[in-house]
Amino acid sequence: MDFTSPSTITLQSFIRDAERRSESSTGDLSKVLLAIALGTKVVSQGVNRAGLASMLGMTGEKNVQGEDVQQLDEYADQVFNAVLGRSGQFVSMVSEERESVISAARGDQFSKYIIAFDPLDGSSNIDVNVSIGTIFGIYKRESSGTAVSESDPSEFFQGGKNQIAAGYTIYGSSTMFVFTTGEGVFGFTLDPTIGEFILTNPDMKMPENGTVYSCNEANSPNWSAGTSKYIEKLKTSGNTQGEKCSHRYVGSLVADFHRTLLKGGIFLYPGDSKNKSGKLRYLYECAPMAMIVEQAGGLATSGEEDISEIVPNDIHQRSPLIIGSKEMVEEFLDFQKNS
Ligand code: AHG
Ligand code: MN
Ligand code: MN
Repeated sequence: MDFTSPSTITLQSFIRDAERRSESSTGDLSKVLLAIALGTKVVSQGVNRAGLASMLGMTGEKNVQGEDVQQLDEYADQVFNAVLGRSGQFVSMVSEERESVISAARGDQFSKYIIAFDPLDGSSNIDVNVSIGTIFGIYKRESSGTAVSESDPSEFFQGGKNQIAAGYTIYGSSTMFVFTTGEGVFGFTLDPTIGEFILTNPDMKMPENGTVYSCNEANSPNWSAGTSKYIEKLKTSGNTQGEKCSHRYVGSLVADFHRTLLKGGIFLYPGDSKNKSGKLRYLYECAPMAMIVEQAGGLATSGEEDISEIVPNDIHQRSPLIIGSKEMVEEFLDFQKNS
């Protein structure tokens, strides 16, 4: 990469230009994005060195979800709490790893944003060197101007359609930061030699169709008739264009989603007879990915309604998630309706 070339756009210059284009910009959201970028660099280093710094394995604790906490889960949670807290932009935060709402540091009670984040997504893949990531969704607080009472969760019950920004980072063969602020989806790749995020995927659009379906087939005995028939149809007669499909499942939402965003396809973690609401969490997994996919021309549904239309009433609420190429999600919904 020729750093001096005008075509090399860093995250900082991208954000500065975006600020200049919008009269109403205060620069506060820029501070948020740069804080997330900093947290991503720190966690990326931690992920890459985990095996060397004996940071792999479990802490022995269980999180609010009853899941074993990996050391890197805890580390990523601490890093993002620190960088987001220090940004001074959040009145409160929700982390997958913390039972209740995290109240802002002193002096930030009048900040205008709230954020929900999954500090490390794909924990079961940490120790086997498979891509993992971080997911976040940002809202403007509704009661702006007044101090927020201690850990008031109601601010987070606005519904995904109210997100003003959402994104994910992926710690894989390279570290990427993909986000939207409502004007398209942009992907930046970290150049570790200089510690800068460089714009590599301007204005990302999800292909209307795809030939990959992604789901945990081990759950198929519990799927609804609609889900089972849809997957069976993909296996036997292919997608809506009759193209043969393949199954790919990494087990990290960020990795399965990133592939779907780039190549097209459909990711499904549906509700089933054992878990009506599925497994994924609404605030910091489903809603952020739904904002991204809608900005990129895809669809995200629970099977009953658009993900963005759901209004949660619990900060760790789960939701079924079927997300991906428009034609594939629409065909899935037809099977749901007609089964
Ligand atoms: P997390 O590691 O943050 O708990 O998320 C794991 C999620 C998601 O990344 C992935 O799509 C899903 O769990 C995989 O679940 P199964 O192992 O049940 O397939
Ligand atoms: Mn997750
Ligand atoms: Mn997680």
